[in-house]
Amino acid sequence: MHNILVPVKVVITGAAGQIAYSLLFHVCSGQIFGNDQVRFMQIPSMISQLEGVRMELEDCAFPLLNQLSITDNLEEAFKDADYAFLIGALPRKQFLRGMERKDLLKSNASIFRNQGLVIDNVAKKSIKILVVGNPANTNAYILNKSTPSIPSKNISALTRLDQNRATFQISKTLGVPNVVVWGNHSNTQFPDPKHALFDDGRQVWPILKAKFDEPNFIETVQNRGTDVIKARKLSSAMSAAKACADHMRDWCLGTKQGEIVSMAVVSNGNMYGIPKDIVFSVPVTCNNGEWKLVEGIELDFSSKKYFESTLNELKQEALDAEFVFQE
Ligand code: NAD
Ligand code: LMR
Repeated sequence: MHNILVPVKVVITGAAGQIAYSLLFHVCSGQIFGNDQVRFMQIPSMISQLEGVRMELEDCAFPLLNQLSITDNLEEAFKDADYAFLIGALPRKQFLRGMERKDLLKSNASIFRNQGLVIDNVAKKSIKILVVGNPANTNAYILNKSTPSIPSKNISALTRLDQNRATFQISKTLGVPNVVVWGNHSNTQFPDPKHALFDDGRQVWPILKAKFDEPNFIETVQNRGTDVIKARKLSSAMSAAKACADHMRDWCLGTKQGEIVSMAVVSNGNMYGIPKDIVFSVPVTCNNGEWKLVEGIELDFSSKKYFESTLNELKQEALDAEFVFQE
């Protein structure tokens, strides 16, 4: 018996860039949106290079790739889109020493403002959006402000890379846990080992704490992006693409029993004291295409300090972002 395949339309911006080059494989192989679905893709920018990527995708002969479109026209790209990975933006550069992700706001903010205005007009209202371009949380904040007709729950930013980094650091000591990352995708983020869980729901901290250097762990995860840039002379791409795939797959297909994941989402004003509209990484579970906040996690004194620091940074970035709306 044949399935009736429902095509979904996925937009990837910055598709000629390095993250997208790795992400395309995850998307087109069918591991994110379910094996019974077919996808259309539209890709703005860098048209001639993308023609080469198109040839490669064709040559992969992915059975689920229904149609591939390349465009630099935003209306055409986002028309009736079901899913969007917003990657297209400038990355930090290795030669700009001391540059932080928030320093990209000036160059990247207007990209998300302009895309938001178009998405609001032409995309499906059910579109699920993952903002990847940095500073990811605040670009998602701008996008949310620019898309009044899209539910804020459908807009998210990528902190799964930070979760995966934290998971690896702990896995070196113990098995693979689920680690909560709170706050900003920046060097103030708070990867929280005290609330990490094993897949079977057991707490990691009672076993971990005796032999664990918590400040060193937090700093390692906070600075991992910078360390990758120093070593690679380019920002992370393969791991970022894997994290994009993890984030969207869990959101669409659901998290496993007992699993919690970190997603930066738009606060409704009723989440761990995070002001409304701030895009903050929190622990969630996902089911039926919806994320749900994991509530009731108690932070101790030192954890609260980390939490406040990353929240203060995001509040400041939100103020800084207002310049986009004044233009
Ligand atoms: P890249 O320079 O390799 O690719 C970016 C692509 O975006 C380029 O092809 C460029 O032409 C395109 N682009 C620029 N402006 C655009 C626009 N307005 N519309 C469409 N495309 C546009 O960069 P990359 O390594 O792929 O990184 C992309 C972004 O993702 C950067 O901002 C980077 O800092 C960020 N990033 C975020 C995370 C995260 O965890 N949130 C992780 C890694 C990288
Ligand atoms: C990362 O965390 O690797 C990315 O956000 C790129 C960067 O600028 O660090």
